[in-house]
Order: sequence, then structure tokens, then C-alpha cells
Amino acid sequence: MITRVRAAACANIALTKYWGKAGPGNAPATPSISLALSALRTETVVERVRGGRDRVILDGRPADRGTRTRVGAYLDLWREQGLLRGNFRVDSRNLFPTAAGLASSASGYAALAAALSAFSPRRIGRIELSRLARLGSGSAARSVPGGLARLPAGPDPAARRLLPPAAVPFGMVVALAATGEKETGSREGMLASARSSPYYRAWLRQARRDDREMRAALAAGDLPRIGALAEGNMAAMHAVMLATRPALLYWNEVTIRLLGAVRGWRRRGLAAWATVDAGPHVVLLCAREDLPRAARRARRVPGVRGVIESLPGGAAEVIEIEER
Ligand code: DP6
Repeated sequence: MITRVRAAACANIALTKYWGKAGPGNAPATPSISLALSALRTETVVERVRGGRDRVILDGRPADRGTRTRVGAYLDLWREQGLLRGNFRVDSRNLFPTAAGLASSASGYAALAAALSAFSPRRIGRIELSRLARLGSGSAARSVPGGLARLPAGPDPAARRLLPPAAVPFGMVVALAATGEKETGSREGMLASARSSPYYRAWLRQARRDDREMRAALAAGDLPRIGALAEGNMAAMHAVMLATRPALLYWNEVTIRLLGAVRGWRRRGLAAWATVDAGPHVVLLCAREDLPRAARRARRVPGVRGVIESLPGGAAEVIEIEER
């Protein structure tokens, strides 16, 4: 019997964003394309326990109630589908600074799903695993294939890999614009946008156009086009967020300073573009060889709390299985 499994997955940053749900199970209302980042890894150890209760440890400490409930409900989903039996202790560790409030649900649920799949009496293939990770968090579906991955919109999609990490000609620099947790999580945020943002429908249409154009730009390896599309898509998403009532304002003054700085760098010859998720941090996209230069410049922007330089990362994987 398998008693303990260790698995890992990389977080990912979307070039075209998932913002909106089409139905239950984190069914996305927009297609999204992302890059997994090797520097943002989560390792999760799952152990079988007796006693009829699951336990959740996050970064070495018992998880708060919200997280415990969410992870417990996620394990229930696996149990209800007959994919898992019994109770478990989930010990998840982010190998990057989470004190900065960096999103970790993508790598967290992808690593957890990978670990759980090793316990399952049923064989779970990659596509099925991505679907299962999506039930935990929509963006986690994309961390399963890793590399450059696309999650289509629709009722029950899985993410597929567009390019393996070694074939992706660019990387990313994460510039931390604050410490601490963000105000409104993505989950509530996207529901609020769908309910009240006057631009939500226009966003859904634009997301489809950006998806088509992004795939073409990626196929052509056209970095300036990829970068411009990523910035435009990000700006459209934040326009929807800002017009949500009450407004979802995720940016702070450091975010705006960074967004302005990137434009200046570009004018002066550094080919870098910016994207921002549901938080204040700015993620720069640039050619692999420009990563150190972009990171150096980001570090010098006043108010930046930290900079993480990252190459493309791989798929979610099971690292170790213990049996008795
Ligand atoms: C802005 O995947 O965190 O980062 O499915 O509710 O768990 P849930 O949401 P989540 O949303 C990610 C939103 C985003 C854009 C993106 O990563 O595509």
C-alpha cells in the first residue's frame, strides 16, 4: 500500500488571462495561455492518516480554517469520484517567498493533484490530471503540463502544453510590489466582475481575440507581438476589475511605477513587457538573455521589495513514492 507521496509543480503566470467562470468546477469563461516558472516551485507531501480527518500544513504551519476547508472539500471531490479512499495529511511548501503574497494556488493544487493521483486506484493520465487540478484552482490546470500551456474556455476543459520549457525563448522577472496578502481573492473577484462590471462581456469577446492572436504570435516566435498582446490583455482585464462595483483595485503606487519604467526601458532598447495578476506585483516578460538586465533594472525601481528571475518551468511531477 502507498503511504506517502512527494510531488512538485511550478506556479505559472498567464500571458492571456483567465478572469471569469463559465460554470462550476472553475470552468473558465476565457481561454488562457501561461508560462510555468521554474523559480516558483511548490513541493507537497501527502501521507495517509488514520482517524477520519484530513490535516493541512502550509509552509510548516497548520493551515488557517479557510484553506483547511477548501483543501478538505477538494479531497472530498476526489473521494466522491472514487479516485481516492481514506484520509490524508497534506504538507505543502512553497519554495519561494510567500510572505510577499505571491499567488501559489496554481502550483499548490497542481502539486497536490499530482500527489493524489499516485494514491488513486485508477490510472490518471496527464489530461485528466489537469482537469482534476482545475477543480482545485482554475490556473492550476496550466501548471500540470507546465512549459507554455493553454487552458481553453468551456464547461470542463484541461490544459495542454503548447511548448516544452526548453523551447520557450523567453523567461520572466517577478518584481514584488508589496508584502502581505492581497485584498480580494481571484475567486470572489471574478464573480464580482461578472456580476457588476459593465465591461465584462466586452472582455469575454476580447479574450477570444487575444487568444487567437497570441497563439499565432507564439507559433511565429514573434516576441514583440507576444509582449504587446500580453500587456494589452492584462490592461483589459484590469479595466474590467476597476469597473467592477465596488472596484477591484489591485495595483499600488509601485505597480504603476514599474509599468511606467518598463515603457521607458523599451524605448531605450530593452525588449521587456509587463503583466499583472490579481495583486500588485509586476511580472516582466523578456528574452532569456535579457533576464539579468531586466532583473537588475527592476531591483532599482523605488519600492520594489524583491525580484525573482525565472526560466520556463516543467510539468507537475511525482518525485517520490513510499510503500509499505
Ligand atoms: C488573475 O486560478 O486563482 O491570476 O479558479 O477561482 O482558483 P480560481 O482562480 P485562480 O485565478 C487566476 C486569475 C489570474 C489570471 C490567470 O492566472 O489566468
